[in-house]
Amino acid sequence: MKTAFQTKSPALIKNTAYVVGVIAKGSKPVLADSLIETASIEGLDLGKLGAKFTAEHTARLPAGKGSVFLLIGLGEGKINAEQLRKISGAAIRSLTEFTSVVIGLPVVSQDLALAALEGSLIANYDFNAYKSNKQGAPLLKSLTVLTKAAPTESAVADSLAIVAAINATRDLANTPPNHLYPQTLAAAFQKMAKGNDVTIEVWDEKRLETENMSGILAVGKGSTRPPRLVKIEYKPRGAQKHLALVGKGITFDSGGLTLKPGLGMLGMKMDMTGAATVGHAVLAVAALKLKVRVTAFMCIAENLPSGTASRPSDVITYRNGKTVEITNTDAEGRLVLADGLILASEQKPDLIVDVATLTGAARVALGVRYSALMGNESGVSILKKAAENSGELIWQMPLAEELRTLLNSDTADLINSKLGNPTGSMLVGGLFLKEFVGNASEKEPIAWAHVDIAGSANNENAPYGYLSKGATGVMLRTLIETAKALV
Ligand code: BES
Ligand code: ZN
Ligand code: ZN
Repeated sequence: MKTAFQTKSPALIKNTAYVVGVIAKGSKPVLADSLIETASIEGLDLGKLGAKFTAEHTARLPAGKGSVFLLIGLGEGKINAEQLRKISGAAIRSLTEFTSVVIGLPVVSQDLALAALEGSLIANYDFNAYKSNKQGAPLLKSLTVLTKAAPTESAVADSLAIVAAINATRDLANTPPNHLYPQTLAAAFQKMAKGNDVTIEVWDEKRLETENMSGILAVGKGSTRPPRLVKIEYKPRGAQKHLALVGKGITFDSGGLTLKPGLGMLGMKMDMTGAATVGHAVLAVAALKLKVRVTAFMCIAENLPSGTASRPSDVITYRNGKTVEITNTDAEGRLVLADGLILASEQKPDLIVDVATLTGAARVALGVRYSALMGNESGVSILKKAAENSGELIWQMPLAEELRTLLNSDTADLINSKLGNPTGSMLVGGLFLKEFVGNASEKEPIAWAHVDIAGSANNENAPYGYLSKGATGVMLRTLIETAKALV
């Protein structure tokens, strides 16, 4: 893909699409400011030609010299970086048959220029690895963003690295579970780590035993494909702060012996999205050369029922001595994340963030665009700001203390889930994880945030903005902003 920024009006070239914004003038759609020469369509009644100022609405007009104008609604009011990402993305999604596109939206700053680039490239994603007929796949080869201020070369390289991390995470999440399982997920990161400024360790089932990774082992033992823990670390010289990331990496969640109904199993190939996200976040932070140490713990297993699977009522003992009675084998995410949180806590980092497709309740409460945020105040406040900077939607949910009794066990320290009681299920998930976050000092816990992406990881509805159907790569931009906040 060739990408370029240009501050001057381009000449019209055959077979190229020129994207121009449409805004409201009273109740009528009119052309927005553009560096593209639009004299040939000025004075036309755009409304009668199918254009609207509604955000992301598209219409095409001939532009002369065999080229095409794509008129796209910008919505009403001033447009910010995230809106520009979405509008550029929607434009690119509607232009799949073009190899060459010029974005002539009102881009007045370097940041907006980068947003237009990012939205376009996230939108240009298509997962067709398993289709024998790739017709309809995007053909884009050359993208030019017209802007009043061109971004620096290094800022462009950073944006490209972030988009690469997002799209690579989507590839992993979209991959079918017979192709992506613990060994192959770990191997994929081993391969990607090569040549990058990171160190990687993969713990196989034997090492998991010697390290007492009881949650990962308990969840993984129903599958013939053994579990893994992957640790990826970026530790630049001179880094003052340490960010630890923990990701849920269930390559397929059948529910285990507490088997899910058929419909509930659909989409469960994406239950490893948290792990893929934190792994790629480390690779991206390394590519950006941020002066902060980042360690990701990817907790990877396949949750299947079998004669060797964990039973409801089994009790496991964690590396930190805590015991858990597994009352529901479908609440497996928290079991594997507990291992990751223990390992992360041992390093006494400045902040721990875990990312997981943890509860169906996250989708019930917040729909499929917002990620849910829980944790202690010091962790939550950093994540809130980071999400605001990235433009990603996040919403804080409380760790309601009165629900903690739902985790009481007659036999062990905790149960993993109260069967048949869905009260505050997302919050109870957070409360369980909290039990495994260590202390920074005698009184203070380590700053910690838990992000439940069960809704936002998968765009199961119609494409919108820069997102096609399927895996979204959500939270990568927020995690990178989080790392920046610690520099
Ligand atoms: N992986 C699921 C959560 C999920 C559901 C993610 C739907 C994406 C879409 C998780 O392991 C699970 O099964 N959670 C249970 C928790 C319950 C047993 C406490 C749930 O949400 O039903
Ligand atoms: Zn489950
Ligand atoms: Zn799960």
